[in-house]
Amino acid sequence: MFLKFATSLILALTSSFTSIHAATPAIILPENGAKIAPGAQFAFKYNSIADYSVSSYNFTVVLFTQPPSPFRPSLNYAAGYTFGQFDVANYPAIPYARHPAPPYFVMPDFSKSLGGWGAGESVSNAIFYLAVFEEYANGQPSVGPRISLSINEIIYNSIDTDEDQNLWDSEAQAALSL
Ligand SMILES: *[C@@H]1O[C@H](CO)[C@@H](O)[C@H](O)[C@H]1NC(C)=O
Repeated sequence: MFLKFATSLILALTSSFTSIHAATPAIILPENGAKIAPGAQFAFKYNSIADYSVSSYNFTVVLFTQPPSPFRPSLNYAAGYTFGQFDVANYPAIPYARHPAPPYFVMPDFSKSLGGWGAGESVSNAIFYLAVFEEYANGQPSVGPRISLSINEIIYNSIDTDEDQNLWDSEAQAALSL
């Protein structure tokens, strides 16, 4: 009985210890609400979950132009584009990054044909979801690496030309949220 209690206490302590040392995975750039034009280069910066006692393996950057549906087989599960799979240096799992993420990505122009049957489609002021799936481990047993998901919303092909209005809007928003 005591042994069982001690074991769960140790597990609880270990997991709180681990959570203290896990960095918060987050997309730093592009920021939530960033406006990105078709074909534009945009800065990408991701904060990995890697930390003391947390190992990061690969992370995959996917732009969802339509959010995914519930997890079951579907012909129209989601729509979007994969920017690629990357890693960050984190000792001891990845002593040096073999395929670091570039500092910039280029937003595809989705109005253009993909070739073949890939008819493009124009859209403006569209909310897209930039997602990062990161494979990691934190010393606790798991079958396969754990996978975290970070999401920032971006605005694709904003045609709002009234910048002053936008500035006023965001200032008013900031004042309201104080
Ligand atoms: C990371 O991904 C690359 C391919 O992108 C693969 O060769 C490598 O084995 C992966 N590493 C791990 C730890 O899964």
